Amino acid sequence: MNDVKHPAEGARPNFVPEAPVKLLSAAEMKEAVPRLGLLLKACVEDGAGIGFVLPLDEEKAARFWRDKVGLLEEGGAHVLVAREENDIVGVVMLVPAPQDNANHRADVAKLLVHPGHRRKGIARKLMEAIDGLALSLDRWLLVLDTVTGDRAEKLYPTCGYRKVGVIPDYAYGSHGTLDATTVFYKDLRSGAADS
Ligand SMILES: CC(C)(COP(=O)(O)OP(=O)(O)OC[C@H]1O[C@@H](n2cnc3c(N)ncnc32)[C@H](O)[C@@H]1OP(=O)(O)O)[C@@H](O)C(=O)NCCC(=O)NCCS
Repeated sequence: MNDVKHPAEGARPNFVPEAPVKLLSAAEMKEAVPRLGLLLKACVEDGAGIGFVLPLDEEKAARFWRDKVGLLEEGGAHVLVAREENDIVGVVMLVPAPQDNANHRADVAKLLVHPGHRRKGIARKLMEAIDGLALSLDRWLLVLDTVTGDRAEKLYPTCGYRKVGVIPDYAYGSHGTLDATTVFYKDLRSGAADS
C-alpha cells in the first residue's frame, strides 16, 4: 500500500492511529479490496453473523468492500485495518450518521479479525483507534450491534460500551437460523464512558 493522493483526500480525517492499525485512503481501500474480501469470507465461514449467509463466494465478499470505495471518497465511511507482516488481519468501519440532526453520532460496523489471528488483542486495538478516529471527526456517540451470545458481546463492554438491549430474531446467521442482536452505545465525551 502506498500513500497515493486522492482528489477527495480532503474528506480523509486528520487522524493517525498507532501501528499496527492504519486508516485507509480511498486509493488504499481499492488496493485492499481482494484481501478484505478474503478476510470477510473467512469470518463468515467461521460462523460470524455479519450480514451474509453461506455459501459466500470471493467475488461477493470483495464486492462488499469495493462498494465502499465511493463512500470513503465522500467521507461517508472510514476504514481502519490492522496489519501483520504487511497482511491485513483485521478491519473495522466507522460510518458517520448522515442526518443533519445527528452530526455527533457514528455507527461502528464490520469489526473483523481473521480466525487465525484472534485473541491477540487486535480487535481491542481497532476499537481503541475507532475512538480516536471518531473524536477527530467530532463524532462522540458510537452505536453498534452484535449477535447476542457471540464473543463480540463480551468484547464491547470491556471497550467502554453500554448494553442497550436485545432485539429477538433480528437476522439470519451465516448458517441460516435467526439470531437476536444486542445493541450497544459508547459516549466518548470526557468521563461519560466510565460513569
Ligand atoms: C469478535 C472479534 C472481532 C474479536 O477479535 P479478537 O482480535 O480475537 O479480540 P481481542 O483479542 O482483541 O479480544 C478482546 C476481548 O474481547 C473478548 N473476547 C474476544 N474473543 C473472545 C472469545 N472467543 N471468548 C470470550 N471473550 C472473547 C475478551 O474480553 C477479550 O479480552 P481478553 O483477551 O483480555 O480476555 C473476532 O472474534 C471476530 O472477528 N469475530 C467474527 C466477526 C464478528 O463477529 N465481529 C463482530 C461484529 S459486531
